[in-house]
Amino acid sequence: VTISRQDYRPYPFEIESVDLQFDLDPTRSLVHSRLALQRLTPDAELVLDGEELELVSVKVDGEVLAADRYTVDAQALRIKGLPEHCVLEITSACNPSTNSTLMGLYVSNGNFFTQCEAEGFRRITFFADRPDVMSRYTVTLRGNKAAYPVLLSNGNLLGERDLEDGRHEARWEDPFRKPCYLFALVAGKFAHVERTARTSSGRNILLQVYSDPGSEDKTLYALDSLERSMIWDETRYGLELDLDRFMIVATRDFNMGAMENKGLNIFNAAYVLADPDFATDANYSDIEAIVGHEYFHNWTGNRVTCRDWFQLSLKEGLTVFRDQEFSADMMAASLSAEEAASARAVKRIDDVVTLRAAQFPEDAGPMAHPIRPESYQEIGNFYTATVYEKGAEVIRMQQTLLGVDGFNAGLKEYFRRHDGQAVTCDDFVAAMESVYQARHPGKDLTVFRRWYRQAGTPRVTVTLRHDAAARTVTVELAQRSDKVGVERLPGEPDKQPLHIPFAIGLLDQTGRALPLRLAGSTDAADTVLLELTTERQQWVFEDIADAPVPSLLRDFSAPVIVEYDFSDAELALLLAHDTNAFTRWEAGQELASREILRLTADQAAGRPLSLSASFVNAWAAVLREPTLDAAYRERVLALPGEKTLAERMTEVDPVALAVARDFVRAELGRQLAADWQAAVDNNQTPGEYSPDPIPAGRRALKNFALATLQAGQVAGAEAQLEAQYAAAQNMTDRLGALAALVQFGEAAAADRALQDFYQRWEHEPLVIDKWFALQATGRRTDVAAVRKLADHPAFTLRNPNRARALIFQFCLNNPRGFHAAGGAGYRFWAEQVLALDALNPDVAARLARAMDRWVRFVPALRAPMRQALEQVRKHPGLSRAVTEIVSKALEIS
Ligand code: ARG
Ligand code: ZN
Repeated sequence: VTISRQDYRPYPFEIESVDLQFDLDPTRSLVHSRLALQRLTPDAELVLDGEELELVSVKVDGEVLAADRYTVDAQALRIKGLPEHCVLEITSACNPSTNSTLMGLYVSNGNFFTQCEAEGFRRITFFADRPDVMSRYTVTLRGNKAAYPVLLSNGNLLGERDLEDGRHEARWEDPFRKPCYLFALVAGKFAHVERTARTSSGRNILLQVYSDPGSEDKTLYALDSLERSMIWDETRYGLELDLDRFMIVATRDFNMGAMENKGLNIFNAAYVLADPDFATDANYSDIEAIVGHEYFHNWTGNRVTCRDWFQLSLKEGLTVFRDQEFSADMMAASLSAEEAASARAVKRIDDVVTLRAAQFPEDAGPMAHPIRPESYQEIGNFYTATVYEKGAEVIRMQQTLLGVDGFNAGLKEYFRRHDGQAVTCDDFVAAMESVYQARHPGKDLTVFRRWYRQAGTPRVTVTLRHDAAARTVTVELAQRSDKVGVERLPGEPDKQPLHIPFAIGLLDQTGRALPLRLAGSTDAADTVLLELTTERQQWVFEDIADAPVPSLLRDFSAPVIVEYDFSDAELALLLAHDTNAFTRWEAGQELASREILRLTADQAAGRPLSLSASFVNAWAAVLREPTLDAAYRERVLALPGEKTLAERMTEVDPVALAVARDFVRAELGRQLAADWQAAVDNNQTPGEYSPDPIPAGRRALKNFALATLQAGQVAGAEAQLEAQYAAAQNMTDRLGALAALVQFGEAAAADRALQDFYQRWEHEPLVIDKWFALQATGRRTDVAAVRKLADHPAFTLRNPNRARALIFQFCLNNPRGFHAAGGAGYRFWAEQVLALDALNPDVAARLARAMDRWVRFVPALRAPMRQALEQVRKHPGLSRAVTEIVSKALEIS
């Protein structure tokens, strides 16, 4: 069944209050729900969603409802003929211990957790499981006190008391109306850390982080991040926390990163637990970003929520934008102005790398959808890079067009209009537009709104004409949006031009920034924002003596692909001199992409591989450039990823691509060995560990340099890696060394280190995940090896982190193993998708997407890929989630 955005209808009842009572029991939990209802439409039937529930009783206004007054099936409870006002009481039962979907109420490590977004609440009790039905909740939790000493739910604790038979109860009240997807409960044995923080208006707030007993010392960074998030939202947006208490709880079994339940965020332990011994720099920054993300949802998501799930990007795109800004501000804090600018550029680069690796391919494949989708079969499949990351870019463009002040005013207006409501993306843009029009008379966001309804990555072609006599440069921008997937998406209108903010600079032939002055204007600037709103437009810059080199799409001002015919020499000039750190990096990436793609073709054709001297020189210059800080230098030197490169090939030969890319890395290592070694020696971080950007940047560069030396099989590199592995004082260095040994080292050295690593960390699941992931992506790991790892006693498909570490990493990030000739990788994928689907369709559907781009591969791979997809599609009892993914993939053949 396909659900369409156009079919939205308001719910015919208001559910004014919800009173829930839980008798928690792992195998049969009883849920009593008391709903105060108001019927809004005469004669409307009440339809309450319910899945995997046993209905025990139904009462209306205290009277047991006769069996002929209602029906119940596998999807819903339906009641006709309710009075305009009534109190409905429903008792139902569910089995948390056998709930392997991790949606609804489930047991993990003996504790109870819930996950309700998007449609998990219906697995807890019969309810109108849709975000526009908002109610006030009170919750009573009862359970055995010894087994479940901690009982948590949303909002404020009203009271706790002991009951008979060793049980106890806790009563919670959430003072804010909310949709049911924000409901949460947690019960079990936990330790916690806490601190009191004061809001800007002077209220005291209790911040708490709960985790398994014994883990509490590892939650301090999360607690710090929570406090920083709270302060940041107040200072940057004037948004204050509205509760007296804010809790984070870590669980080892979780489908996603984390969930923003009102006042009770539930987190994947991977994004809570850290100490220098077992967490990497990347783990620390993920924790800060995700703690921030969920906290920021309190305003963008909870106070103002989504009318329906088509509006998901209303909260997700906006909240990702906010967490990106938060991380950038945190990285820049306490740095000099120059260092701060570089740190911000690094954050921007990292976000764009993610977008290009995950969202661009999605937007060109069978699952392409606008940031506000028009239809879906399973909403769980639409928690995508498009809704989240492209959604954040669409918000960022609004900030670019309105200016930071204007954007902040627009956000204020959004809350003034919609606090407490469930609204749409249109409502958001309308609030922004009101400010935009006031500040830019004659302009509006009519064209801009198309970003919400068109899928696909637009291409912007740039042409530059220099007129020496007139001393002018004419820049022409032309945009087109290719068709995506098969043809046009269902419900999608013809592609129309978008409103594209396009930031541009010009350099002279010596690399100096030219002051830019548009014809008719008196201001000159280093960067000018061109606003492309039609298919093709021109701008004239004056007073430019010689033909310049353009610096295009500075700071990645729009999520588009730029087409401009740069010469290699121009790219080298930009790489050496561009004043915009983003486009400077971009120039290097373009040079590297050209080199790798040329070598991939050579490799596929059986020609010998040889790296061009000009490319080596460009990389040598970056390595030797004293003014670049370490983190930025590492981003510039890193080669573009295979997923991004594959999008530029008409037919993808993934093994040839991997070989070519590794060849480039190895040659760089070999030919510039002295420079890499200098980078290793100059970027040590002795002393106490800190995850701050300066030392983290040094570690990133040092570990990249060391791995590159090893890739080049430079004498002494392996010994250095083994020494670093053994002496490491933090996980970034230990894992960095281990990864390089596994990837580029001698097999025996790699195995020794892997064995040591396992023994050291056997008891910390998050580190064992890293151990599986390293091997899953190792270039010696073929299907046979990954099967052997799947038989390891520490492996289980039931734990999503573990499944992601081994199975997903192999299928998504091991091109040599997964795409090996013969299709054994694809058969393994099919088996694993089916095995996972029986346990957890949400996670299975994500693995299913490993085949998204199958039609783009060389014919020898396409055929077995198709077979594997068909095998999955025809499997009896396949979930709706996986069915949607594989059938959309097969539609494009
Ligand atoms: N709202 C959560 C977040 O982005 C994600 C919830 C995802 N749920 C799901 N069933 N896919 O913070
Ligand atoms: Zn979110």
